[in-house]
Amino acid sequence: MGAPAETMPDRRTLESAVALASRAPSLHNSQPWRWILDTATLRLFSDNDRILPATDPSGRQMVLSCGAALHHLQTALAAQRWASTIERFPLSPDRQCLATLRFHRLRGSSDTEIRLAAAIHRRRTERLPMDAPPEWQRTVAALRKLAERAGAYLDVIGEHERPVLDDMSRRISRVRRADLAYQSELRWWTGHAVYPDGVPADTLPAGGRAVATEREFPPGRATGETAAEEDRAAILLLSTATDGRPDWLRCGEALSAVLLACTDRGLATCPVTHLTESAASRGFLRGLAGSDGVPQVLIRVGVRPPPRSDTATPRRPLSEILFREHPGAGVG
Ligand SMILES: Cc1cc2nc3c(=O)[nH]c(=O)nc-3n(C[C@H](O)[C@H](O)[C@H](O)COP(=O)(O)O)c2cc1C
Repeated sequence: MGAPAETMPDRRTLESAVALASRAPSLHNSQPWRWILDTATLRLFSDNDRILPATDPSGRQMVLSCGAALHHLQTALAAQRWASTIERFPLSPDRQCLATLRFHRLRGSSDTEIRLAAAIHRRRTERLPMDAPPEWQRTVAALRKLAERAGAYLDVIGEHERPVLDDMSRRISRVRRADLAYQSELRWWTGHAVYPDGVPADTLPAGGRAVATEREFPPGRATGETAAEEDRAAILLLSTATDGRPDWLRCGEALSAVLLACTDRGLATCPVTHLTESAASRGFLRGLAGSDGVPQVLIRVGVRPPPRSDTATPRRPLSEILFREHPGAGVG
């Protein structure tokens, strides 16, 4: 008789994978996820206390962020020779339960899996202008496959559409400037230095916005020359067939797959979502991209010339996001 199949990574492997998963991007670095570990499974929950009601009333971007963490976790474990089988939205009395993961041992990890896990450490959201990405057609073909595998559509917004997109972005920013609830949420989550969540001032452009397509944040201290720089980043749109929670989760997974593949190729990235926060702007984007799907998130992709900031944004400690369920004794 052979050895019993290995179906659960040891504690240290799981803890380091959850820590790596927490490097996933999230709306305003809100990190709206919780993981619960029992003897046979790891479950992912949204942390609805971290929803941003003025920016994200439906919790769509919260679930997108959780999807990105879910894909980061799979990537981290694959590099440690563990495959994950995911049941999305399992039957559960808890509506916040987004996925149950079970595991089995792999014979080895591929070079790609190891490189993608390494890319998790290097990925940053880059809000300064970028140069155009090289070999773009070939890269787009690869990114499209990754997005489709995760259940999302990927479209490129053409260079000639850029002026209308920039104009739409400026108009949305003007409307948002007068939205007090949105502004107070933005100020709560951004521009501070001492918290393990939120967007630190070091990662925000000094002028509040250095790229017209970008969301307007309070002015920060991101280092790098931006004066007279034109943003030549390519712009991608991720969309989904329908617009429910399963779509949002899958789209978050696609977002993570695209961001990590770009990082692995040496490209800088920035998710952009102020243009997908109203029905009107989503309709506009759909037409602009000629997409059949429902727009979820834009991604700027390019090359950021040096000097680049290497500061990683902070993350919450493991003790706040990973919990153990003890049989008969509940979660602790
Ligand atoms: C759903 C979602 C929406 C986001 N929207 C924006 C955005 O509109 N503008 C922006 O600059 N960054 C956006 N981000 C990036 C986050 O601000 C970023 O991931 C977070 O601050 C952590 O920083 P890091 O990505 O450098 O680790 C978004 C990320 C996610 C997952």
